[in-house]
Amino acid sequence: MTIIEELDAAAAARELPALAEVMRLCVEAGASVNFVLPFSQADSEAWWRRNVLPALESGERRLLVARVEGRILGAVQLAFAPQPNQPHRAEVTKLLVHPEGRRRGIGRALMTRLEAMAREAGRSLLILDTVEGSAAQRLYESLGWTLLGVVPRFALSTDRTRLEGSAFFWKEIAAA
Ligand SMILES: CC(C)(COP(=O)(O)OP(=O)(O)OC[C@H]1O[C@@H](n2cnc3c(N)ncnc32)[C@H](O)[C@@H]1OP(=O)(O)O)[C@@H](O)C(=O)NCCC(=O)NCCS
Repeated sequence: MTIIEELDAAAAARELPALAEVMRLCVEAGASVNFVLPFSQADSEAWWRRNVLPALESGERRLLVARVEGRILGAVQLAFAPQPNQPHRAEVTKLLVHPEGRRRGIGRALMTRLEAMAREAGRSLLILDTVEGSAAQRLYESLGWTLLGVVPRFALSTDRTRLEGSAFFWKEIAAA
């Protein structure tokens, strides 16, 4: 059974190796989530430590994880827009499902819970971007996200051999 739970900064710090491992394995499997290969466990842990833990501590971000039999197999973050004129907006970032856990509904469960969390936090407008034509794009479309458009040649593939387009999506969710 998949359990979705929120981790605060202290819990995320304890789970840092598992979180970093999921991200490293996703990058090794070709996921374009800002990194290129080689991407080590140490690189991944450093990124989580530097970028996520302080943002969880300050409340700028929130983190959800998916556990299957106690093991973290997925994660997603909600980053609150810092602009004073956008208190209703947030960005979904780093939806990651362990390659061994795919196509079992973990990604959908994380996104569904994240949308509920955003609604409860008063964030009714969400945005995200993903690689054009990716599995993630199909997931977002199946969850009713609206495709704004595709920016071609946006980012390098993980193996640096080509430039991939980025598909930008938005979703408006009813207030709590
Ligand atoms: C995208 C990702 C998060 C999906 O996670 P997942 O747990 O496998 O997704 P789910 O099992 O919840 O799938 C939900 C739906 O998404 C779509 N989907 C997911 N993976 C798909 C694939 N490989 N091909 C086609 N459709 C896919 C399907 O509509 C699926 O519903 P179905 O299984 O009933 O057909 C996962 O593949 C992943 O971590 N990829 C690498 C990281 C990444 O690209 N993250 C997105 C960053 S923006």
